[in-house]
Amino acid sequence: MARNLQASPQWERIQQNWVTEEAAVDLANFKSDHRNYNLALWSPEANGIRYLKTLVHNLAEGLGDDDRARLGRIRNRDLGDPLTVRVGGQSVCLDYLQAVLELGFIERRLDLDGARVLEIGAGYGRTCHAVLSNYDVAEYWIVDLTNTLRLSGKYLGEVLDAEQFAKIRFVDVEDVDEVVRSAGFDLCVNIHSFTEMLPDTVREYLDLIDQTCTGFYVKNPVGKFLDKKLDGHHKGEEAVQLALRTGPLRKVLDVFDAEAVAAAVPDYIAAYLPGAGWDCVADERGYPWSYFWQALYLKGSA
Ligand SMILES: C[S@@+](CC[C@H](N)C(=O)[O-])C[C@H]1O[C@@H](n2cnc3c(N)ncnc32)[C@H](O)[C@@H]1O
Repeated sequence: MARNLQASPQWERIQQNWVTEEAAVDLANFKSDHRNYNLALWSPEANGIRYLKTLVHNLAEGLGDDDRARLGRIRNRDLGDPLTVRVGGQSVCLDYLQAVLELGFIERRLDLDGARVLEIGAGYGRTCHAVLSNYDVAEYWIVDLTNTLRLSGKYLGEVLDAEQFAKIRFVDVEDVDEVVRSAGFDLCVNIHSFTEMLPDTVREYLDLIDQTCTGFYVKNPVGKFLDKKLDGHHKGEEAVQLALRTGPLRKVLDVFDAEAVAAAVPDYIAAYLPGAGWDCVADERGYPWSYFWQALYLKGSA
């Protein structure tokens, strides 16, 4: 009987271009080049979005009921055309998926209903959006740079209702004395932001937190990476050099070595302690990132 086992046109093309006659000559790097990218693995360079969506999809499927409910209460998440997957009937992107994990960590130790919250470096406002959608906080203050404040102001104005939006106070870094004058915040939040400020600036903010707050949630990297394979140093060499100068934790480590990350945690906990009289009451990895850590500090908790 005639058989029809020859390569498809798709595989003819692969054999001509990538898994060629010479494919087996030198195996030194074949798992990280186009030979394996046609065999067992998709090229990470070409398939970044596919890998990102896979990450989000897996995380979304693993969310507990409370996290899903928290996510469901955040309306208008799709403003701005995020990269999303659909799980459990909900559209999910990585920004808000992280937000509900972050809030779950905080909520287990701190009651946010009625709280006054201060966020330093809020980006477009995903955390503020998530908090105001889930808790009846009294006030939510954001301290940020001028241009970022413009963005978060516009974004939060569109995604929140008028009553929620009215609880937000936007404070330019130049006007931070307003925060000092209004001391008495139950929680300060800093996510992926102190790591991008000069060490002296972080010290000043920690002093501000010490003066004005009784709780502090921080989620930042435990150190720096230099491996060009991770991001192609796509913003240029200058950006790499600038990044190495920021944050209180500037030691370069293998951020995918779990032991190296664990060894860096004590310095992380010490570096973000706002002052004497504060205790770190909980800390753990900042999922999904291998080298982010999250910690909650309380003042006078003993
Ligand atoms: C990488 S973004 C993180 C945004 C947000 N926390 C998130 O996780 O989506 C860093 C944030 O820090 C802010 N930032 C940078 N330098 C700052 C400074 N000196 N004072 C206050 N905010 C600053 C940026 O404007 C931005 O909002």
